[in-house]
Amino acid sequence: MASLHRSVTRLIEPEPTMEGAGVKLNRLIAGRQIDWLDPFLLLDHFGSDQPADYMAGFPMHPHRGIETVTYMLDGETDHRDTMGNAGTIGPGAVQWMSAGGGLLHEEMPRPVNGKLEGFQLWVNLPAKLKMSRPSYQEFTADQIPEARRDDGTVIRVVAGETDGVRGAVTEIAMQPTYLDVHLAPGARFVQPVLRGHAAFAYAYRGGGTFGIGEGGEGTAIQAPQLAILGDGDDFEARAGDAGVRFLLVSGRPTRETIARYGPFVMNTRAEIVQAVNDLNNGTFVWEERNG
Ligand code: FE2
Repeated sequence: MASLHRSVTRLIEPEPTMEGAGVKLNRLIAGRQIDWLDPFLLLDHFGSDQPADYMAGFPMHPHRGIETVTYMLDGETDHRDTMGNAGTIGPGAVQWMSAGGGLLHEEMPRPVNGKLEGFQLWVNLPAKLKMSRPSYQEFTADQIPEARRDDGTVIRVVAGETDGVRGAVTEIAMQPTYLDVHLAPGARFVQPVLRGHAAFAYAYRGGGTFGIGEGGEGTAIQAPQLAILGDGDDFEARAGDAGVRFLLVSGRPTRETIARYGPFVMNTRAEIVQAVNDLNNGTFVWEERNG
């Protein structure tokens, strides 16, 4: 089978959304334009120089059946949960949390040097793992490996692999790649992406051309814009005159039907009803049910 370059099949514009206790953010996935991109259920880009836009944060709320991935560019997010974990996700750090069969947690963003910015991605769990024990992987900025190229390109490898550099986050069911790619003006970038995996590239600074094909054609991108990628074996991008910074994320689809209700994503409506009942009956949290 000949090698196929992934092209941009859709461009998604950010949708201003209010979440949590009154946090203003931009929604890319799970908005009006695209409901989900199996296995990715949601992508939010938060950040503002106005603390009033986010300080109310995300007080105690439940999750079941998914993984939430918080990656900070600037500022910090304080968190604590019903598993007894508490900590801070600092600038450049990542928290990959598997909610599994149920937890409640609190996520409170605050600025560092007046700045706050980051992303939250939700990854679906396959049916067989939806009720599993909750778990975490958390890495500080200096624990996330970087690949550096001669042309000035810096690739922060949150998950997956590039240029032989393995990512910090491993052993995730949907075999994700999560790269934070910084391209200098005019720089070219090629990354293998497994055929059959869903993939997107979210430009959050600058602009350029994404999804370059055999003949050199591609799609013009200007941040903030999300490019949904078609199937293929690799992804090629070129930075414009101001450079470009983007998240390149891919993963294996679950190919399962989902039933979603806010922070619960299960396979059937009955499982959603069960989650709501568990929450009402005090049997929602995995530890409390399973000891
Ligand atoms: Fe949450």
